[in-house]
Amino acid sequence: MPALPTIAVLVSGRGSNLQALLDAIARGDLAVRIAGVFSDKADAPALQRARDAGVHAEAIDPREFPNRLAFDQAFFARVDATRPDLIVCAGYMRLISEAAVEAHRGTLVNIHPSLLPAFKGLRTHAQALAAGAAEHGASVHFVTPDLDGGPVIAQARVPVRPGDDVEALSRRVLEREHPLLVATVGLLAAGRARLDGDRILLDGAPLAAPLQLGANEGFA
Ligand code: GRF
Repeated sequence: MPALPTIAVLVSGRGSNLQALLDAIARGDLAVRIAGVFSDKADAPALQRARDAGVHAEAIDPREFPNRLAFDQAFFARVDATRPDLIVCAGYMRLISEAAVEAHRGTLVNIHPSLLPAFKGLRTHAQALAAGAAEHGASVHFVTPDLDGGPVIAQARVPVRPGDDVEALSRRVLEREHPLLVATVGLLAAGRARLDGDRILLDGAPLAAPLQLGANEGFA
């Protein structure tokens, strides 16, 4: 039997996206092996979720390093030691140095809670509400040195409803983040989607616009 594609997951907090990946693997809906979960926060609940599933999990404290570059060298040395085919930032809240990003170009992806290129950075749900957006959602993109600006592979959209506050809107988005991440990691791990220069190839053909998650939790 051929070996399963291997992924590493980077986390900083709650870990609900990590849990979605673990659950999909357990159900047999995602054919990957998580080789390790890595965090910049020792108290991230995500680490316990990994351990509960029997997955190696470790944290490295940035305060033990003189600067971002030194931390990233040590951190990614640990990640790379698991020889991942794909590295998934799932709520990893730390900026990654350009050197580490470039060293992992094409294998590093992130889930961001907005319909990129709209609402980069933090507090995206508040940004969407303040802008009066009619629609909001989440994107999975390749990480490039341009923060939240790398090519977008796939998105999930939700409506913004009258009366929404940050909590209601973030809950609606998060519910769609989980199937979005599972479906996108599935495509990437299967080698169907990949970065080619600045564009994405899907089944060998340039992707003109991000894939959109359908109601069936697959891509239309
Ligand atoms: C998610 O909204 C993700 O898009 C963003 O950070 C949040 C992480 O949530 N990057 P969780 O830790 O996966 O529950």
